Amino acid sequence: LLMKELFGLGELEQELAVKFGLSEVVIVPGNADQSLAAKKALGRAGANVLLNKARPGDVIAVNGGTTVAAVAEMLTDSPVLKETIFVPSRGGLGEAVELQANYLASLMAKKTGASYRLMHVPDQMSEEVYRSLMNEPNILDVLKVIRRARIVLHGIGDALAMATRRNAPASLIAKLREKKAVGEAFGYYFNRRGEIVHRMQTVGLRLEDVHQAEIVIAVAGGASKGEAIASVCRGGSRDILVTDEAAAQSMIHLL
Ligand code: BG6
Repeated sequence: LLMKELFGLGELEQELAVKFGLSEVVIVPGNADQSLAAKKALGRAGANVLLNKARPGDVIAVNGGTTVAAVAEMLTDSPVLKETIFVPSRGGLGEAVELQANYLASLMAKKTGASYRLMHVPDQMSEEVYRSLMNEPNILDVLKVIRRARIVLHGIGDALAMATRRNAPASLIAKLREKKAVGEAFGYYFNRRGEIVHRMQTVGLRLEDVHQAEIVIAVAGGASKGEAIASVCRGGSRDILVTDEAAAQSMIHLL
């Protein structure tokens, strides 16, 4: 709290909330692009928000990435979180194993004493495989749990950075450039107005399920992500945003 007053971040939090129609904004000092301390602070703040919002019996869906991993690192044993179930929000999205939603859901469960369910689906699949997967009792079972999520906790990526990290084919990169994608979250790519310009085919939460969740917590920071975060916030609805000062400053200056 003292830090916040020192840096004048409270005002910026309110400005961002109003500008992007967010229900709550938490800003930590620094720039996660350049400082590990800022990334850890993001993780700690994200973990605190999760702890404050969770109720026993909740299903908590999480996506992948280094920022959600930072949240996982900060979670500890908690009587409430112990009574929750962590699940991945979507199937594989082409990340390194330690950044995948499945792994982070299990890590969060391990840190807090919660339960977890995993969803094993491939990244790329034909229409045929997709349809037969959707008839697998195991997959349907987990999907039912995932779609019940009361809380969704997710990271946000810069559109082209994410496409590159996922080894997207040149044709997709070209499409994203042409459609002016700037932000990405759980396999959906958004333009600056918050419109979806591309979605990756995988199994799990659809954007309409995310809008149905009671609490959506986005955790993302770094000066380079200002536009990306803004685009995803514009596509969302009254979410909670946990970010850092550098991203917040860049968001506030956008039109
Ligand atoms: C990915 C998620 O794993 O992480 C994306 O599927 C998200 O939706 C991305 O945008 C964010 O990654 P990071 O490392 O920038 O937190």
